[in-house]
Amino acid sequence: MTGDVVRQWRAAAADDGAVLLDGFHALKHALRFGARVRIAATASRTDALVLARELAPDLAARLDALLVELPDRQLRELVPRRHPTGVAALADRADAAAVRAARRAPRTAPVVVLDNPRNLGNVGAVVRLAAGMAATGVVTTGDTDPWHPGAVRGAAGLHYATAVARLPLDGLPAAVPGPLYALDPDGEDLRTLRLPDDALLAFGSERHGISPALRARADRLVSLPMRPLVSSYNLATSVAMALYHWSRDAGRAGPGPR
Ligand SMILES: C[S@@+](CC[C@H](N)C(=O)[O-])C[C@H]1O[C@@H](n2cnc3c(N)ncnc32)[C@H](O)[C@@H]1O
Repeated sequence: MTGDVVRQWRAAAADDGAVLLDGFHALKHALRFGARVRIAATASRTDALVLARELAPDLAARLDALLVELPDRQLRELVPRRHPTGVAALADRADAAAVRAARRAPRTAPVVVLDNPRNLGNVGAVVRLAAGMAATGVVTTGDTDPWHPGAVRGAAGLHYATAVARLPLDGLPAAVPGPLYALDPDGEDLRTLRLPDDALLAFGSERHGISPALRARADRLVSLPMRPLVSSYNLATSVAMALYHWSRDAGRAGPGPR
């Protein structure tokens, strides 16, 4: 039985179309938002089902049917950075559907563009923000895979609750139409503007900021309020401020109360 599960896991993990869901919360959100989960393993079914009853009663029956137990040592071999919840799963990536969703017009909520982000924690935090704020999705440029397990862990599996894809900067905004607002400390004050629902909100990399290529494509350069002598905000924090500003004027597509 254990050998079968390990073989099944290894076969699924070898496929480029699969993504690791690391931890209970990632699996919970993936199931809630329609991911196709190929296999889900835990070091303790008892502990995992206690978590399910406490944190996701809506999913308790599905998790009971889905989770297979593996000895902790074996789980650690399959998942090198074992999550404290002792739960891991493999699911289908959803990039293709994400690109279709980002391209669909007319768009009723912004797409966040991260120009060559370097830090997977930031990418995950931005996906989580986009999901919570009901943005259309997150498009990244550059070589960081926004579906990297580290980003999915940082987003607590909320990649399935929004559209997440990587596209070449060359294609923007032709591939994802809409007015391009680039966020930069030298821009005009965000507080004086209304961000349209179909905007592309673009943010620069942690080290270098907005690239010259993106700056050249931008329709507007926009700044966040910041007192003198402070150089910049963290990338994910900047996205949070911009999406919050959009949400205050957003129509029905906005996040709404919980
Ligand atoms: C950590 S900052 C980049 C800092 C970088 N050293 C630079 O020179 O711009 C990452 C991104 O967050 C956004 N950002 C940070 N602070 C901002 C501000 N005050 N106004 C507008 N955007 C800001 C920008 O998009 C920026 O490229």
